Amino acid sequence: MLPNQRHLFDIPDDVAYLNCGYMSPLMRSALEAGRVGLARKTHPWDLTAPEFFTGAEEFRTVAAQIFGTTADCVAIVSSAGYGVETAARNLPVRKGQTVLVLAEQFPSNYYAWQRLAEKNGAALKIVPWPADNDWTAAVLQTLTPEVAIAALPHVHWTSGGQLNLVRIGAACRQIGAALALDLTQSLGVLPFRVSEVQPDFAVAASYKWLLGPYTVGMLYVAPKWQNGVPLEEGWIQRGNAQDFSSLILYCDDYDAGARRFDMGERSNFALLPAAVRAMQQILEWGIDEISATSGAMNRPLAEAAAELGFSAPREPLRAPHYLCLRRDVAIPPELTHVLAREKVFVSVRGTSMRVTPHVYNTAQDCDRLIACLRQIKWE
Ligand SMILES: Cc1ncc(COP(=O)(O)O)c(C=O)c1O
Repeated sequence: MLPNQRHLFDIPDDVAYLNCGYMSPLMRSALEAGRVGLARKTHPWDLTAPEFFTGAEEFRTVAAQIFGTTADCVAIVSSAGYGVETAARNLPVRKGQTVLVLAEQFPSNYYAWQRLAEKNGAALKIVPWPADNDWTAAVLQTLTPEVAIAALPHVHWTSGGQLNLVRIGAACRQIGAALALDLTQSLGVLPFRVSEVQPDFAVAASYKWLLGPYTVGMLYVAPKWQNGVPLEEGWIQRGNAQDFSSLILYCDDYDAGARRFDMGERSNFALLPAAVRAMQQILEWGIDEISATSGAMNRPLAEAAAELGFSAPREPLRAPHYLCLRRDVAIPPELTHVLAREKVFVSVRGTSMRVTPHVYNTAQDCDRLIACLRQIKWE
């Protein structure tokens, strides 16, 4: 477990921010890296052509460490939806086949598959919410030979359910299904290695558990798909991009590896340094340690909430960092406003109250949430 890291953030003492699953606070050091980067635009004459590439490569290198892969396999994208759409553009599915998704899956990992299936005469196959909260078993049961693509998360965003992606990856390979992952609610806080799971595509937005800025994400593309079709056909993804004076000598070749899938204007001089700094800090802390620290805050919270009539899936069916508390009667959406008035911040998603602490939270933050919940008159 890590000692408290609140001093690295700008979080006032009276704010109990238990909502990393919504948006993480930016660290002071990441803010500073972003400030310096943004300020570079005030003197564009100092921005040299090679710097359109060096910052992006730095991002790719540190993102690859988090994914457990090589920089060549990482594309820089704007959002989870951008990465999912890239996967949907490249993965084949035929009439009569299916694309597997979970019930209540996040929209950015749903609509692209819905459209792909519709276009090809295929169907979406939706894994129902398992009564025993075992999403892994539910997925393995539904992975039958007509599944062409399993489009899944590592953590189910409205239940906190954790999927065993190593087992699911192996099951996909056995039936020849592709595996496309949205890791936005898990990468940076839940251990994940590309080499163990062997996905075809895996994306994560950086603004939650990667502690990065908004509008930056990273996409893993397996080598077998790296000759595929990108969403954008810009200049910087091409093989001749480094020679600015010759860009009009149109080039059929793309840059190496997954770089062809980079979003346009990916050399973002403000956002990429901030994202890099945040990921470096995550690697310094260690993802196992972050997971243990966040999990240690959620466990007593789950117990205290149980006394108030809340239930949550038990670990290891639930991811340690992601506590979704449910009651027999629906949780009123206005609950978050009531708590926010006390400067206690959580989310209501689906039928759950979602509590997602990180290394900047204290035991006092958790106590304040429970104290507030105790004061509410539940039906
Ligand atoms: C599971 C999951 N995926 C993705 C996102 C963000 O999607 P996008 O980057 O497409 O806005 C969220 C945001 O809440 C999420 O919970």
